[in-house]
Amino acid sequence: MERPIVLSCFQVEQALKARRDGLARVQISPDLGLSMVAVTLDADGIRFPQGTFLPWRELEWIMASPQSCFVVEDGSVRKIQAFSEETNRFYSLMPTEWAPTLLVSGVPMHRIKDTDPHADTLEKIKTISPVVGRVLDTATGLGYTAIEAARTAEQVITIELDPTVLEIARLNPWSQELFENPKIVQLIGDSFEEVQKFEEASFTRIIHDPPMFSLAGDLYSEAFYRELFRVLAPGGRLFHYVGDLESRSGRNVVRGVARRLQAAGFRRVVRRPRAFGVVAYK
Ligand SMILES: C[S@@+](CC[C@H](N)C(=O)[O-])C[C@H]1O[C@@H](n2cnc3c(N)ncnc32)[C@H](O)[C@@H]1O
Repeated sequence: MERPIVLSCFQVEQALKARRDGLARVQISPDLGLSMVAVTLDADGIRFPQGTFLPWRELEWIMASPQSCFVVEDGSVRKIQAFSEETNRFYSLMPTEWAPTLLVSGVPMHRIKDTDPHADTLEKIKTISPVVGRVLDTATGLGYTAIEAARTAEQVITIELDPTVLEIARLNPWSQELFENPKIVQLIGDSFEEVQKFEEASFTRIIHDPPMFSLAGDLYSEAFYRELFRVLAPGGRLFHYVGDLESRSGRNVVRGVARRLQAAGFRRVVRRPRAFGVVAYK
């Protein structure tokens, strides 16, 4: 299936500049920076190599919406966003100069200040490397941690609560491996419940990257950590994203997280400030 064209202000700014400069052709990315193609410009708009035409007013709308990514459909553009009746949450794909992030009711699900979602993902993965064997990823989101873990792991099981998030991920060029890599198994459900169904000691690594405490309290509970401890193999490691460990709220949350992880059985809990989280060892 042909991949849709997905654009943000970072891509269309080059086309608008080329128009101002009176150029007839310019290179822009049709997939949020992953690749480049040459588009032709005329008085009415731009044309992509495979024929898709976009009028200037659509490009101007994208330029005026720096918080949104847009998918091109039938010669016009649509914001990549959706409301979920299931969770009563509003999701949207927010661009950065690099990989986009997911906004859940306005809150970014990756770090974007002084870094970008891709670099953020690499920091998380690095804390539990080598990422080998069978990996559990408790919160799929845009699938960045699952995709990165699957580069070296045998298999990655990833769980997402809200199917609407996966609809957004499907349109995100940076999430495509989530749907194409046979090593990644996707589950829809509440991690709190799904984890209870796994066998004891069945994972070598766990990536726990939940939304902030106020959006998913259960995923920070001792009861949940006990389940993570149970399904982790001896010698296994868990990365738990917490937030900025140097901030006041981060300091408070991490103290409680570390205490509950130890109460759940983890023998050692190490702070990893660069990754905004902790690593717990079984
Ligand atoms: C911080 S994002 C995960 C980002 C992801 N690791 C990535 O690399 O793109 C958190 C995700 O957890 C999902 N979520 C929230 N509560 C959950 C639950 N109880 N079980 C599974 N997923 C949940 C949210 O819908 C959101 O997509």
